[in-house]
Amino acid sequence: VLLSARRVGPSGKAYGLDMTEEMLELARRNAAEAGTTNVEFLAGRIEAIPLPDASVSTSSSPTASSTSRSTSRR
Ligand SMILES: C[S@@+](CC[C@H](N)C(=O)[O-])C[C@H]1O[C@@H](n2cnc3c(N)ncnc32)[C@H](O)[C@@H]1O
Repeated sequence: VLLSARRVGPSGKAYGLDMTEEMLELARRNAAEAGTTNVEFLAGRIEAIPLPDASVSTSSSPTASSTSRSTSRR
């Protein structure tokens, strides 16, 4: 997420999504330590991403999308 935030630059925004509070806390702490301001971490599941349709241009996932039953059919 932090690499994506750097790639889109200050006029863009990167979202991180995770279903566990522990990972969200770690991610928010890492972003703060890195001084990254164009990032937002959302609580939720990849099967129901809490963002409006067509509101992001690119998505990536190291594991969750490949282990999710609903997204592996897409
Ligand atoms: C292998 S960890 C990767 C964590 C982090 N990206 C890192 O590099 O340390 C996978 C993460 O995906 C999250 N996850 C797994 N299935 C998910 C789902 N269906 N929806 C949202 N998050 C999910 C888990 O909570 C976990 O934090």
